[in-house]
Amino acid sequence: MNTELKTPQVSTLIQDPASVDAAIESRFSARAYLPRPVERVVLEDILRVAARAPSGTNTQPWNVYVLQGQPRDALVTQVCAAHDLLVAKPALAQEYAEAYDYYPTQWVSPYIDRRRECGFGLYGVLGIGKGDRDKMHAQHQRNFKFFDAPVGLMFTIDRVMGRGSLLDFGMFLQSIMVAARARGLHTCPQAAWNNFAKIILPHIGAGESEMLVCGMALGYADESALVNTFKTTRVDAESFTHWVE
Ligand SMILES: Cc1cc2nc3c(=O)[nH]c(=O)nc-3n(C[C@H](O)[C@H](O)[C@H](O)COP(=O)(O)O)c2cc1C
Repeated sequence: MNTELKTPQVSTLIQDPASVDAAIESRFSARAYLPRPVERVVLEDILRVAARAPSGTNTQPWNVYVLQGQPRDALVTQVCAAHDLLVAKPALAQEYAEAYDYYPTQWVSPYIDRRRECGFGLYGVLGIGKGDRDKMHAQHQRNFKFFDAPVGLMFTIDRVMGRGSLLDFGMFLQSIMVAARARGLHTCPQAAWNNFAKIILPHIGAGESEMLVCGMALGYADESALVNTFKTTRVDAESFTHWVE
């Protein structure tokens, strides 16, 4: 074999496959964080690693806005106020429409069942009953505080890009979340912010051509928080895998 032809990427052996699996499997949506700040160099590292995510024809359609300290806190204040107002005046909903449909307009089984299991499971852990609107609102509002995470990320994409680029974006987001795990950090991807793009985009300095894809909380998870004991289930791989023979 001509070893001179070997490229480092081809010849790289993962020395410890179990830690790759552990980084993936220990990721969950953390919804309570410690105030401990995250060093900029760590964030830079995570984003550098995540930039290796694949994308169709290597278009790399992602933009990331990192919010910490005052810019983060100012956004939290504005969006929490808007969210409160929206709940008080539901007619305002049209003003806060999402730029793209993240969820189907018509829910069907099994997705609606899984969605319900997720919602009831989370509320169950928090002791929030079915009709307890105030507590539900307060929990939803936690999104707009990044669940107290010191780092908030906002992701945008150029509006000219096609639907396929959202696939690329998903891989980028997962790469961030896994790279964060490798550094002792946790995350929560957040589509909840999408309704408030008209506040967020000017705040972060995004251009007119950019669409908000989602937000993400990032930080050191609060291990003592009840909400972080909530673990979602998964269907077995067997049930979604079709061996074509
Ligand atoms: C793109 C995306 C957006 C999400 N948006 C929110 C959100 O706004 N708020 C929230 O609490 N969880 C959000 N989640 C987390 C999901 O509820 C969670 O991933 C799912 O229930 C599986 O649980 P796990 O992440 O703990 O494994 C989002 C997840 C994804 C992938």
